[in-house]
Amino acid sequence: MDSIVVNGGGALHGEIAIAGAKNACLTLMPATLLADEPLTLTNVPRLSDIVTMTQLLQSLGAEASSLQDGRVVAMSSHAAENPVADYEIVRKMRASNLVLGPLLARHGHAVVSMPGGCAIGARPMDLHIHGLEALGAKIELKDGYLHAKAVNGLKGAQIELRFASVGATENIMMAATLAKGTTVIKNAAREPEIIDLATCLRAMGAQIEGEASGTITIQGVDRLHGATHPVIADRIELGTYMLAPVIAGGEVELLGGRVELVAAFCEKLDEAGISVTETVNGLKVARRNDRIKAVNIKTEVFPGFPTDLQAQMMALLCTADGTSVLEETIFENRFMHAPELMRMGAQIDVQGGTATVTGVERLKGARVMATDLRASVSLILAGLAAEGETVVSRVYHLDRGYEHVVRKFSGVGAQIERVKS
Ligand code: EPZ
Repeated sequence: MDSIVVNGGGALHGEIAIAGAKNACLTLMPATLLADEPLTLTNVPRLSDIVTMTQLLQSLGAEASSLQDGRVVAMSSHAAENPVADYEIVRKMRASNLVLGPLLARHGHAVVSMPGGCAIGARPMDLHIHGLEALGAKIELKDGYLHAKAVNGLKGAQIELRFASVGATENIMMAATLAKGTTVIKNAAREPEIIDLATCLRAMGAQIEGEASGTITIQGVDRLHGATHPVIADRIELGTYMLAPVIAGGEVELLGGRVELVAAFCEKLDEAGISVTETVNGLKVARRNDRIKAVNIKTEVFPGFPTDLQAQMMALLCTADGTSVLEETIFENRFMHAPELMRMGAQIDVQGGTATVTGVERLKGARVMATDLRASVSLILAGLAAEGETVVSRVYHLDRGYEHVVRKFSGVGAQIERVKS
């Protein structure tokens, strides 16, 4: 199992290119099941999760091939006859559950394994099921699999989500494109990945409006056609690399970065004394003062502060001037990076969904363990400013969401390497 070794202390300078969004790709790829003609995605990130989704689509009988060094994924599901998403693939990646809506809309039935447990929370699928049942599906759980049937096809419906779930909104949206009549999803998620999905589905001939407003209206059509769609930039990768020069010093330009993707995050950076300037090719980030100011963070659905940047922000606030309070409202168990940061000398008190971080002068390098995707990169960020060497183990988590992470960090001067351990 690989580890990543970081020697902290050096300021960073240069540029980092932001890849396409993992969480957009993972909902765009299942959309291929909605049409018999090819769907091609460009600006695709090279990640293990994309490989897993490709394998899942192939197991359903779709053709899916990675081209141009993984930057393009060409898919066609004209021969996809298998409606069963197997546990062996689904257990590797929860986002596999995003084939449920498209399979149901395509075949009128689907059998999709429940994803099972996750480090950051229970993550049930009740909202997905509630929405698809409102469209006329009958869904029952048997032997760990969701068996969904819509013998008379799906019918448009009024759906109000108890919580603006990203995944439930995506599954319902995709299913509703081929349902008879009109579907309205109220309290729908508004994340940029939702907007990217709506844009792609419209390019395939779907009739969708309101995706940025929280109330989405979908007029069902008889069939969708092929399309080519460029994946949006990854706002979470962007936010992660924006923090690197802030934590380690220096100035870095993030190519392809856009403020509107991370507006709530930028507001907090500004509060902490950090400048974000737009450039022709992206964003530039630099500290204004020697030490950053403590700030309070509350994670929320978009356009609020993203939960997927909470761990990275905690790494920054460990050396802030003062005490910061971080409230995690989206997932019930998303502070597992805190004890690892405390091994590096951070002062953090976790009480349920709230973490109080009292800034220290400097962290010290240590052996730490990654517990999930965003926690793992927060430990690398902390290592960039720590005294001495930090060794992060279980970095396979990283490969799921960060392409070429060592190359990107070392490209701006970080002392970082990946080692077999
Ligand atoms: C997406 O997960 C992202 N994953 C997550 O990113 C991200 O953290 C999350 O949205 C929130 O922004 C992908 O897009 C592949 P949700 P998703 O449904 O769709 C509860 C990363 O690091 N809920 O909005 O699973 C749920 O338990 C990952 O890249 C229900 O109760 O998120 C959670 O507490 C991690 N019932 C909350 O809603 C449901 O049926 C948010 O979940 C569905 C969700």
